[in-house]
Amino acid sequence: MSTLVSVAPAGFNVERIREDFPVLKQTIHGKPLVYLDSAATAQKPHQVVEAIRRFHEVDCANIHRGVHELSQRSTAAYEETRVKARRFINAKKNAEVIFVRGATEAINLVASSWGRKFVKEGDEIIVSALEHHSNIVPWQILCEEKGVKLRVIPMNERGELILEEYEKLLNPRTRMVAVAHVSNALGTINPVREMIAMAHRAGALALIDGAQAAPHMKVDVQALDTDFYAFSGHKVCGPTGVGILYGKSKLLNAMPPYQGGGDMIRTVSFEKTTYNELPYKFEAGTPNIAGGIGLGAALDYVNGIGLDKISAYEHELLVYGTEAISQIPGLRIIGTAREKAAVLSFVIEGIHPHDIGTVLDRQGIAVRTGHHCAQPVMDWFHVPATTRASLAFYNTPAELDALAAGLRKVKEVFA
Ligand code: ALA
Repeated sequence: MSTLVSVAPAGFNVERIREDFPVLKQTIHGKPLVYLDSAATAQKPHQVVEAIRRFHEVDCANIHRGVHELSQRSTAAYEETRVKARRFINAKKNAEVIFVRGATEAINLVASSWGRKFVKEGDEIIVSALEHHSNIVPWQILCEEKGVKLRVIPMNERGELILEEYEKLLNPRTRMVAVAHVSNALGTINPVREMIAMAHRAGALALIDGAQAAPHMKVDVQALDTDFYAFSGHKVCGPTGVGILYGKSKLLNAMPPYQGGGDMIRTVSFEKTTYNELPYKFEAGTPNIAGGIGLGAALDYVNGIGLDKISAYEHELLVYGTEAISQIPGLRIIGTAREKAAVLSFVIEGIHPHDIGTVLDRQGIAVRTGHHCAQPVMDWFHVPATTRASLAFYNTPAELDALAAGLRKVKEVFA
């Protein structure tokens, strides 16, 4: 047993946890799979797969629409996830928890619905230099439509946002500050609590993209006092196609619907339609019911381990992995923030990331290569792309040793 495993938090047994992830027990090109792409999507424990299977085999029916038993059961199971999601982020009310397709749709919902009603020409929206495209483009669309200015908080060479510069950007025209809790490309954990307070002092709202934070740390939307918070189910070990938008009820109530259709209405006539109450006003059409139920199982699973333990263990993995790959000659880590989640983005002098990814894949090691949907981050660091190993609580120090060995092999191949 390595030293690292022995310092894993009490009650945290990674080998036991790995038993829950059937996907991890396979070989790729004859080598044991080393899955280091959890920032793209996390693997699913069998409990989640089982909840989705059970829904389809036992309860399958549409929700909010039927008096029959199956519909009642499906509705109850789906709505139970809303309650679990509320507790997961410590929202005050179930009505503040909106089911969406994922963090991307959550941000688009706010930019479109809130933006349509509450911003006007001459206003300003602030994003940061380390955003994922999904927290840039929806705001750019709004800016183009409304004549609004997009302003960008710069970062330093570690990949940390420069708060003094952020302060200077805030002004009475600022309507919204939209920033990532954790950067997907760099791993930087932003001081969002402070940033939200700064936005509020300037009279602006704040939206936090929590896609890369929710799987790794305890999120408390009330403690953060954020106006909106978005996360995706599939990064928290749930299925794809489901996620959560949190919004303060006062704001959500004042916003117009995002999409029209079934379930989001109270009454419809050709003269006038009235809308449903929260949260249903923002949930038009038959949702991803199975996905919602799977997400509930995923939140139970993650809570069962405990986010405090997950954070502590992943931090140890990050320290271990950073040390292991730093020994590779010519390797430069991109993103060295002092507060950092378990993401290792790097470049190796003279070798293209796609070549690195391909050679690693032949050794059974799955990493992501490319711009990670964060092209401005790549531009800032003057690299076309990086190789990114992103970790989760089911990874082990031995897998990080395998990554380091794999990178040595890459060096040999391209020597
Ligand atoms: N946003 C996901 C990633 O960082 C897809 O890989």
